[in-house]
Amino acid sequence: MDNKKRIIENVRTSYGELARDVASCCGERGGFASDSKVYDPKHIGKLPKEALAASAGCGNPNAIGELGQGETVVDFGSGGGIDCFLASNMVGENGHVIGVDMTPDMIDLANKNKSKMGAKNVEFRLALIDDTGIKSNSVDVIISNCVIVLAPDKDNVFKEAVRILKSGGRMHISDLMLTNELPDTVTADIDNWTHCIAGAELTDVYINRMRNAGFSKVEVVSDVPYRSGSETDEDWVASLRSMNILAIK
Ligand SMILES: C[S@@+](CC[C@H](N)C(=O)[O-])C[C@H]1O[C@@H](n2cnc3c(N)ncnc32)[C@H](O)[C@@H]1O
Repeated sequence: MDNKKRIIENVRTSYGELARDVASCCGERGGFASDSKVYDPKHIGKLPKEALAASAGCGNPNAIGELGQGETVVDFGSGGGIDCFLASNMVGENGHVIGVDMTPDMIDLANKNKSKMGAKNVEFRLALIDDTGIKSNSVDVIISNCVIVLAPDKDNVFKEAVRILKSGGRMHISDLMLTNELPDTVTADIDNWTHCIAGAELTDVYINRMRNAGFSKVEVVSDVPYRSGSETDEDWVASLRSMNILAIK
């Protein structure tokens, strides 16, 4: 198996385990959304506890820019569906939200959460984010929360994003990036891919990939340390940043 396939398989296995854990043990895990301050408790309070428990993002892509009534939104790497359900309320009954995820157990969990919510304008599709099968020039907004960092071929992800967005369409990304390259020992550990670390890139490299793919404007909306800095952290941890990016096709 080549390295890209190996990364994809490891990531799929790891998030499949998370989805099955959440489904089998009633969602008692906190999850990123409940533990962080980037989601408004008023917005997440009514979501199924399994959607919160599966939340594994590093930001809140729906807070980067407005979603309008009637818009079509695609979530790259939708997991248990948290950001799709929030987007669903923002686009209203005439809008449409498509969550794309490559992990069958995550899609099952997201569909169960959808039934609990009764969200009619949301659907989940099993696909890779660099090959979504979505019609070209058909999407108003792409959101993505801590997923592109996991993709071994980020150029193809951004090409796919540009392909499916309408002209003037937006992309709201929350993701992890770097101020300094990681040590080889860290990137060589396959588990560090599934932990959203080994696939992280320098911010300039990531943004250049977006521009080269065809985004006309790419703006860093916020940039904060990923971890607040504990004495036990190794030095390289300080170079991990949690970034919010707004891009326009
Ligand atoms: C860190 S979790 C984030 C889930 C969700 N965005 C959230 O905020 O809770 C990553 C998710 O992306 C999916 N994923 C990772 N790489 C992917 C790829 N190349 N194509 C499609 N889905 C992918 C995983 O299956 C997993 O559900």
